[in-house]
Formats: sequence, structure tokens, C-alpha cells
Amino acid sequence: MNTDSSSASAAQAPAVTAGAIQVHPSTCAIGAELRNVSLAQASRDAALAAEIRALLVKHKVLFFRGQELTRAEHVAFARQFGELEDHPVAGSDPEHPGLVRIYKSPDAPNDRYENGWHSDATWREKPPFGCVLRCVECPPVGGDTMWANMVLAYEKLPQQIKEKIAGLRARHSIEATFGAAMPIEKRLALKAQFPDAEHPVVRTHPDTGEKILFVNAFATHFTNFHTPDNVRYGQDYTQGGSALLQYLINQAAIPEYQVRWRWQPGDVVMWDNRSTQHYAVMDYPPCHRKMERAGIRGEATW
Ligand code: SIN
Repeated sequence: MNTDSSSASAAQAPAVTAGAIQVHPSTCAIGAELRNVSLAQASRDAALAAEIRALLVKHKVLFFRGQELTRAEHVAFARQFGELEDHPVAGSDPEHPGLVRIYKSPDAPNDRYENGWHSDATWREKPPFGCVLRCVECPPVGGDTMWANMVLAYEKLPQQIKEKIAGLRARHSIEATFGAAMPIEKRLALKAQFPDAEHPVVRTHPDTGEKILFVNAFATHFTNFHTPDNVRYGQDYTQGGSALLQYLINQAAIPEYQVRWRWQPGDVVMWDNRSTQHYAVMDYPPCHRKMERAGIRGEATW
């Protein structure tokens, strides 16, 4: 049971019912902060986790301020929603497989892909269902994360664009993104382990049936964009197709589709990786930022 104020006035405080999750929508477009809920408890309580899952599908991003969650509970909470997967480049906590370390410090800069709107790991054939991110250490100011509602981004596209992209597919590549900074042997080994994946440009949400604009910084090109220009130039992505892809990728940057979270240590955010994109704002060097993320395995996009 929860008291969700989003259907009434978002500004109105929800009634407090003992034991009930309080739902405070963050914007008109996306996100809700859940209060009066313990994720440590949800890591052991399947009914509570199911309630959180339903709210996640509805609000797309859920914010939990000041949770006291151990690493084991973080993993156990995320496991309530599916298997976890490690990241081939970022690396995981050795004692807690599935808990990816996103540690940024001035002496070990690993910031190449921080400033890009993306859904996590769409270079996988089965991109994650969702992620649970916990703040271990954050800078005194800065280091926020932003999320965008990609259902709304699709809905607001001009009708002629919707017609143009219906049925289009795009290639998503870890090689062209994380791999691009590697020496050639490492890059090719990464590609051999994770070949490019192909996904529909407009994905259907498996739970809601909503259409989602599903291209992001991992998308390199359309695989079936066919126009007279393509016949003339062959598979030249610089003609037409690439401008359209860039236009679509840029939609996540529209502020009206977004929510922004200012982290404090102990905060946890969970997002539906199918219907959102996110952007970690790299405005805090020379300060440190330490986040730990559990990525929950998803399903094929068609
Ligand atoms: C991510 O890209 O999954 C991490 C976002 C963040 O560090 O805020």
C-alpha cells in the first residue's frame, strides 16, 4: 500500500498512513521521492519490493534519501528484481559481484563517458531492466545526476518524425564508446566479447505498452535507414541518417523531460533503464565522487 499524491495535486502533502510508502512526485514529467520506506527491509520483503517495482514503472525514477544500506543489502534489494550483471570496463566490488564501482577521483580520472545522455549498457543484446545506484561519497556541491523520460520524448516528437523512424533499427556499440579509449588489442577483445547490439529506435515498454525513444550515446548508426541518398552514397552515415540519429539522441537534453537529483551520502536512486536516460554531471573535479551501482538484467528488445 502507498499514498501516491501524483494523481491529486503534486504539491499537496500525502496523507501519512502507518507503514505506507509516501510518494512525492519530483516533477510533472518524471521521478518521485519515496519516503517512509526502508530499502534494507525491501531487500528481504518481496511484497514491499513488488510495490516499489510498480511505482518504478509509473514514475520511472525513484529517489530514496538517507538509506542505511549495507553493500550486501544493496545487492539483495536489486536482486529482488532480477539477476545482476557486472560491467566489463568499470569493474565491481570483489566481495559483492554485481555491484559496479563508479569511483571518480582526480588521480584516477575515468570520466570519458560521464557527460553523455545514455541508458545503461544498451550495447548488450538484452540491456538492463533497471539500476540501483547508491551514493557512498559525493562532493560538497556538484556531481548531480539527471534523468529524462524517453516515453515523453517519443510522445512529443513531430508526427512526420514518428512516421520516419517507425521500423528503424540502430546499432549500439561498447567498442565505439568505452573501447574507443583503449589500445587496439584491448578494443578488439572487448568487441569480441560484446559484439554490437541492434535495437529498435522506438521500443515498446514490456510492462506498459508505451512507446519509448530508444537511442542514446551508445548508438552509432541506423542499420536499415534506406533513402535515395543512401543508394547514392552507400552506407554513408554522414548523409541524412546521421543527422536524424543525432536529432533523436539530442531529445534527452530537453529540460521539460528531466529531473535532477542532488546527492547526499546514503541516498539511493532506482531507475527504469528501459524508459529513461541519465546524465551524471561532471562539474566537481578536483573533488571525489564514489557511487555503487547494481545493474539488473533485462530482456531482448524485440
Ligand atoms: C551511471 O551512468 O549509471 C551512473 C550515474 C552516476 O554516476 O550518477
